[in-house]
Amino acid sequence: MSGGLFVAVEGPNGVGKTTAVARLADRLRANGRAVHVTTEPSDTPLGRLIRTSEGSLTGRALALAVAADRYAHLEAEILPALAARKVVISDRYVQSSLVLQRLDGLPLREIWQHNAHVPPASLSFYLHHTPEVLRQRLEQRSRRSRLERVGSPRRELDLYDDAFAFLAARGWRQARIDCRDLDPDGVVTQLLQHLEQLEP
Ligand SMILES: Nc1ncnc2c1ncn2[C@@H]1O[C@H](COP(=O)(O)OP(=O)(O)OP(=O)(O)O)[C@@H](O)[C@H]1O
Ligand SMILES: [Mg+2]
Repeated sequence: MSGGLFVAVEGPNGVGKTTAVARLADRLRANGRAVHVTTEPSDTPLGRLIRTSEGSLTGRALALAVAADRYAHLEAEILPALAARKVVISDRYVQSSLVLQRLDGLPLREIWQHNAHVPPASLSFYLHHTPEVLRQRLEQRSRRSRLERVGSPRRELDLYDDAFAFLAARGWRQARIDCRDLDPDGVVTQLLQHLEQLEP
């Protein structure tokens, strides 16, 4: 990864990815690291198109658009930031596709084929919580996306577990973080402990 560190933060809707990414970035910056925070779908015209068309673009068409966005995101943003020796933190990456595109009807192996040329993150975190807490958090939201409505916390967790095992079998370096009984700072402390093991 040419000097930088590439961290992916994954997990079901409402588990706390965006919260954890922001706090992890703050803590790393306080330690003097240059950090680049990003998200998928990316903040590019294609990424924004995907976000606004998620209700109408479905199945294979959506899966291919998401994969295309990922390759463009890598080329335009992630790899240059890594080359500049930054820590790149991505809110969602390949594991999310292996779940969300599967909820949308695609087989795991096809989704994997779309992502065959994507480099693994240096470390991919899978944030985990109970389906009950995830359901309570989603119920507090006024708007839900199509795929949030199609899935359920229980089903999402099952598919994330599958995707975690699938990526582990392909040599991806991952850590599953049990977020029960952890406040956001507690989650980030665990993430930092794993990252310290990565770069002694
Ligand atoms: N460790 C935590 N303990 C308690 N509440 C948390 C924790 N992490 C996040 N939350 C709360 O849970 C809610 C969902 O968090 P957040 O928006 O970060 O989740 P997300 O995984 O990014 O969701 P989405 O997949 O929809 O983007 C927020 O209200 C946030 O404040
Ligand atoms: Mg989020």
